[in-house]
Amino acid sequence: MNKPAICGGTPVRDTKLYYGHQYLDDADIQAVVDVLKSDYLTCGPKITELEEKLCKLTGAKYAVVCSNGTAALHMACMAAGVESGDEVITTPITFAASANCALYCGAKPVFADINDKTYNIDPEKVKAATTDKTKAVVAVDFTGQSVELDKLMAHCKEHNLVLIEDGAHVIGTKYKGQPNGSIADMTTFSFHPVKTVTGGEGGAVMTNNEEYYQKLLLARSHGITRDTALMEEEPHGGWYYEQVSLGYNYRMTDIQAGLLISQLDKLPMFSERRKEIVAKYDEAFLQMPEIQVQEEIPESDTTRHLYILRIKPEMLTINRREFFDALAAENIMCNVHYIPTYYFPHYQRLGYEKGICPKAERLYDEMMSLPLYYGMTDKDVEDVIKAVKKIVDYYKK
Ligand SMILES: Cc1ncc(COP(=O)(O)O)c(C=O)c1O
Repeated sequence: MNKPAICGGTPVRDTKLYYGHQYLDDADIQAVVDVLKSDYLTCGPKITELEEKLCKLTGAKYAVVCSNGTAALHMACMAAGVESGDEVITTPITFAASANCALYCGAKPVFADINDKTYNIDPEKVKAATTDKTKAVVAVDFTGQSVELDKLMAHCKEHNLVLIEDGAHVIGTKYKGQPNGSIADMTTFSFHPVKTVTGGEGGAVMTNNEEYYQKLLLARSHGITRDTALMEEEPHGGWYYEQVSLGYNYRMTDIQAGLLISQLDKLPMFSERRKEIVAKYDEAFLQMPEIQVQEEIPESDTTRHLYILRIKPEMLTINRREFFDALAAENIMCNVHYIPTYYFPHYQRLGYEKGICPKAERLYDEMMSLPLYYGMTDKDVEDVIKAVKKIVDYYKK
C-alpha cells in the first residue's frame, strides 16, 4: 500500500471541494412541483416538450428521451441493427456503458486507441480496427470536446458503418459551428447529476434519420406501438396496441423531463461559466511544465464537462496516485475518468488483454479530474490552482 503523499502545512482549503456538483435553482424546483401537481407523471406532455426543446437546441430532426445515457446507447445500437457476430469500435477512455451497449446486443466491443493530445478516439486507429464484421463506431466526446466528426463520418460512410456519438459529456458543444447532436447518425446524451444539465437521471438519442427514430421509439417502450400503420392485425378496439419487436422500459418520467426543460434554460449560463473556469485552469497549468494541458481541435467550441489534470511523472518525484492523495490532503477531492474499460475483470474474462491501447493506458496512469462545475466560485478555482502549484513545487525533480 502506498503511503499517501502530503505536502504538509495548512491545507489550501478547510472544506472539501468535489469534482462535480449539480446546480438547481427555484425554477427547477418549481418545474418539478408543477409536474407533481399535474395529471401525468410519465408518458405525458413534458416528454414531447423536452424532445422539441432538444431538437431546437441541437438542430436535430428527432429526439427520443429515455431513462439514462446507458439506455440511450443501448437503444442506439438496437436502431443501428447491432447484433450477435458484429463488432463495435469504441475508445477505452470512457465510462463502461460505451462498450457495454455492444455487449447488450450480443456484439463484440473493439477498442481503438486515443490521440494522446486530445484524449479522444484516434480516427486512424478506428480505420485500423475496422473489419468486415464492424457494424458501428461509438465515438465518445470525452470531457465535452467533440470527436473528429469529419474524419469519422467519412470513414463510416465509406465502410457502411453507423456512427453513434456518445455525447454523454457534449451538450452545449459545437463542431464547426453546428451543435453536436445533429451531426452523427445518432448522438446520445446523459443527464446524470454530474453532467452539465441534469434530470436526476436521464438520457436522449438525437437523429435526423426517420427509420432510426421509429426503431428508437419501439426500443424505448417494449417494442409496443399504437400506430396502426405498424400493426399486423386489425385493431381489436380502442384499447388495442401491439408488440411488434422486443423492446425495454427505458422511458423517462415527466418529473425528470420537467426538471430538464428548466435546466436547459440555463445551459448558456452553465456553458459560459465552465468555459471561464477551464480558461483559468489552462492559463495557470500552461505555466507549469510538469502538467500537460488537454489540447483542443479548432473545430470544437467546447463546453467542458470534465477538466483533466495530467501530470508528467518523469518531472515529479510522485506518481498520479500520490498526486491524487496529495490533492485530497489539500481538500481538493478529484476523481479519475476513466479506468480503461478492458481493465475491468468482466472484460478480462472476455479475453481482452492489457497493452492493446498504450496511449490510453498511459493517460490513465497520469490523469485525474479536477473540480469543474457551475457553482464553483472564483476562490474555489484559485484554491484548486494553488493546491496543484503547491504539490508541483514540493515534488518537482
Ligand atoms: C461517456 C459516457 N457514456 C455513457 C454514460 C452513461 O450515462 P448514464 O449514467 O446516464 O447511464 C456516461 C455517464 O456516466 C458517460 O460518461
